[in-house]
Amino acid sequence: MPSSTRILALAALLVSVTASTGGITPPGHQGLPNQIPEDVTPPTPDNDLIAQTAGQVDQKSGPSIDAQPNAPVTPTTVTALDGTVTNATIADVAAANSTRRRDINVGRFGKRQSKYEQVFAGLPAGQHDASLQSSAYLTYTVVNNATYNVDACTAWCDTVKGCVFVNLYYEFNNELLDFVFSEKSNLKCAAYGDIHSAAEKLNFGGQASYPQVGNETVPLTYITQSSGWALKDLEDPDTPDGYELVFGPTGGANNAPGYMGFAFLDKYDVDACALLCNGRGVDPNGGGCAYFNIWRAVVSGIPTTYTCSMYYLVADVSTAVNFGQGDLVVTLSRGYARKDALVDGGFEGYNACGDFCFTTSYGNWTGTSPSGGDDDATFFFFPTYAHTGHGSALLGAAFGDDSDAGKITPAQPVKTDKGAAYVVQCFMYSGFAGAQLEAPAKVDILWNGARVGGVSGANSQYTFVEAAVTGTGSDVLSFVGGAAPAWTFIDDCHIYKA
Ligand SMILES: *[C@@H]1O[C@H](CO)[C@@H](O)[C@H](O)[C@H]1NC(C)=O
Ligand SMILES: *[C@@H]1O[C@H](CO)[C@@H](O)[C@H](O)[C@H]1NC(C)=O
Ligand SMILES: *[C@@H]1O[C@H](CO)[C@@H](O)[C@H](O)[C@H]1NC(C)=O
Ligand SMILES: *[C@@H]1O[C@H](CO)[C@@H](O)[C@H](O)[C@H]1NC(C)=O
Ligand SMILES: *[C@@H]1O[C@H](CO)[C@@H](O)[C@H](O)[C@H]1NC(C)=O
Repeated sequence: MPSSTRILALAALLVSVTASTGGITPPGHQGLPNQIPEDVTPPTPDNDLIAQTAGQVDQKSGPSIDAQPNAPVTPTTVTALDGTVTNATIADVAAANSTRRRDINVGRFGKRQSKYEQVFAGLPAGQHDASLQSSAYLTYTVVNNATYNVDACTAWCDTVKGCVFVNLYYEFNNELLDFVFSEKSNLKCAAYGDIHSAAEKLNFGGQASYPQVGNETVPLTYITQSSGWALKDLEDPDTPDGYELVFGPTGGANNAPGYMGFAFLDKYDVDACALLCNGRGVDPNGGGCAYFNIWRAVVSGIPTTYTCSMYYLVADVSTAVNFGQGDLVVTLSRGYARKDALVDGGFEGYNACGDFCFTTSYGNWTGTSPSGGDDDATFFFFPTYAHTGHGSALLGAAFGDDSDAGKITPAQPVKTDKGAAYVVQCFMYSGFAGAQLEAPAKVDILWNGARVGGVSGANSQYTFVEAAVTGTGSDVLSFVGGAAPAWTFIDDCHIYKA
């Protein structure tokens, strides 16, 4: 929407134009909207809040003395949401704003190459050592303890989704390992979804596991020969369905406009971050989540948490300039954009002038009027009418000389994945002629001819509208409505996988 100097220029112009619709200068004559919505500056991340929250979460763990070996890896959890420490599943957080649920799997930090190298060695056999207390702990097993069985441990890691690192150590005086569990081995192999260092050896044992017998002293657990082994090469994680990789990995997080908030994850899980973005809900000014930035926070040299920042505007590497602050260093930062199945949903492809012009069709979109109708569906180049940029579409006679409903449709059918769920998202504004004249305003969203959603009534600014649809492979989207002077402007439409 316009700057104030622009409004003044337009106001002057208004006086010179003959009113043709109930005293209102119609859009076709470059009339001014009854009420011009305020510009909203898209927000950028609150990096202080992110760093402060990173100091509050505790994601360090490892196998507890009483854990069963070979437990399934627990699904990725959200440990903080928008600055509040929590403990919630991805499904719960994403479903808070989403009607659709999906099977949630643990994502992976990188694809495995099955070649491991030692990151740190254990202390000599006789000495007490410590196992890791670290982020992205997945599960553990015990391996045959006839020898210090590194190969069995790394081979097992290959079978655990998301495992990129193992911590191998003996644990003594654990009654469950010694007598209860069927494996009869005290050589623990703990799987992690991130790579850790000897500085994180923080579990020295010292717990009572054996039962108290009479007045004898219970022997406490202790750990020996704790070594760490990591995959040599990590490839990019698989790109989540409905997204494309924009950049990364780099050492910079985005500091970009259109920020919607952040979640901390207990693992570097791009699929989980994509699900949070899909389920994020909408920003009233910016719409749905269109982009996410996932990165690892290393605090004082220790991998601490995995940040998932969400945006309604697509960012790129040029704004990935937050390298950290204080003790926090940004690592493994990647940006992913949500794929938009709609071409030119912002009508920015219409560029026939540099100031004000409109048309009934251009390369990307077609507008049609019913027979006898005139300019009932048009496309404008005029920043004043646009939600963002300079392009928008108008339903209702541009010159106000009939009250027929027009129809706009993309020039080419929308390419979709057959059977996949999508959302059509748009901003619509039915306020040009003021609340009273716009009261009958109405737009239907059609998908292959069937009504899937729409709006009715006046509003004083661009308002978010969405409709759920299912792809058939090649789909016809259209918007039908407008009855001048109950005009409706449409802008910033997207079709995202749900
Ligand atoms: C989070 O909640 C789950 C399920 O309620 C629980 O098993 C787990 O221990 C909790 N984790 C933390 C860190 O509180
Ligand atoms: C292997 O583990 C079992 C069960 O903890 C223990 O009884 C045994 O002494 C261990 N053997 C070796 C060689 O450490
Ligand atoms: C432990 O109990 C035994 C008999 O049950 C007793 O002879 C011994 O003095 C006790 N030792 C201690 C340190 O209390
Ligand atoms: C859900 O949507 C509302 C409104 O759009 C937003 O305030 C809230 O933060 C969203 N919640 C989550 C978990 O994304
Ligand atoms: C269609 O839209 C795209 C994206 O805005 C634009 O680059 C292109 O020039 C448009 N094509 C036509 C023919 O208008």
